[in-house]
Amino acid sequence: MIRMNENYLKLQASYLFSEIAKRVNGFVAQNPDKKIIRLGIGDVTRALPTACTTAFHKAVDEMAQDATFRGYGPEQGYEFLRTQIAQHDFRARGADINAEEIFISDGAKCDTGNFQELFAADTRIAVPDPVYPVYVDTNVMAGRTGAWKDGRYEGLVYLESTEENDYVPALPKEKVDVIYLCFPNNPTGRTVTKAQLRPWVEYAHANKALILYDAAYVAFMRDDSLPQSIYEIDGAQDVAVEFRSFSKTAGFTGTRCAYTIIPKRCKVYDSQGNPHSLHALWDRRHSTKFNGVSYPVQRAAEAVYSPEGQKQIRELSDYYLVNAARIRETLGKLGFKCVGGDHAPYVWVKARMDSWKFFDLLLQKANVVCTPGAGFGKCGEGYIRFSSFNSHENVELALQRVAEALRDL
Ligand code: MLT
Repeated sequence: MIRMNENYLKLQASYLFSEIAKRVNGFVAQNPDKKIIRLGIGDVTRALPTACTTAFHKAVDEMAQDATFRGYGPEQGYEFLRTQIAQHDFRARGADINAEEIFISDGAKCDTGNFQELFAADTRIAVPDPVYPVYVDTNVMAGRTGAWKDGRYEGLVYLESTEENDYVPALPKEKVDVIYLCFPNNPTGRTVTKAQLRPWVEYAHANKALILYDAAYVAFMRDDSLPQSIYEIDGAQDVAVEFRSFSKTAGFTGTRCAYTIIPKRCKVYDSQGNPHSLHALWDRRHSTKFNGVSYPVQRAAEAVYSPEGQKQIRELSDYYLVNAARIRETLGKLGFKCVGGDHAPYVWVKARMDSWKFFDLLLQKANVVCTPGAGFGKCGEGYIRFSSFNSHENVELALQRVAEALRDL
């Protein structure tokens, strides 16, 4: 008899964005004449930068000739891309990261989800609340939690990000082994200063813990004094892994390319307390289970770092930030408290009602899709998240409809 992994029985019925898609599809089937505007899942809507498509086309042409064709590439990614990333994203900002410490992959969702495979079954995990659900669900699947009870999984340590702490959680009171952090934050859009990030690195040192730092939204930061990478904090290279992606930076959600940084100094420990290289562990896992991102996609990603690429990706994130500012301004004028949207593509809005109820109200009355905060955790109840990934025209129309729908509340 083939037996199932019963940890899957603990999971909530469906993944957040699948549940939203199901509700929206149901509404569309009932109301085929309505024009839905999607400000829910953070999926980009603008075309790839021309610097990237030019490089992409050229690489596809290379694949069409025997003389320049490429088969399997290095699982860790091509040197040409890893070198550019190390230089532009880290060394240029004073973070001493080398090309060999960078692993190219097909997505930060996969990497943040897969990374927990390297840890022991009884690893104590801390996650922010609200949180990107992938961090939680993948640990549930691996059996690191108990049952779902009162909106949370037993056995996880939740780090609350609320209005009271300005959406930056306090350090865990108990001892944990792994801490997930995400800045600029999904879903709140909140950023942190170096002074706010430093204690986390100190905590990890003191407790031999590891920080998994998700920086997928870094391209939206506009205050240069804020840390773009956790490696801008002294000592972070011993205790932190960082996840980055071209998805939101360069419109690669459908193209797929991301990267994970594992400094060679970073250690994990066996049951006897002996240190082992985390880099070597991930390298072993990655080369066993992954055969690399396609050559044309890596060439397209490399073009992000050309002078034209840099200019074009800046225009892309500027475009979405205009939307975010409009969403925040409009909801603010309607009397809703909002955070985010200034260094992130998300605006986190205090809904003043149950968040799925607010979601349904906007869907039914405004035909606008947002993301209910409750889907990100217990602390997200009573909030909704607006994504700024859409055209200016659609965002303006959505905001008019939202204002209309909320007028009589
Ligand atoms: C989101 O909307 O939170 C993101 O698009 C999800 C993701 O990047 O996987």
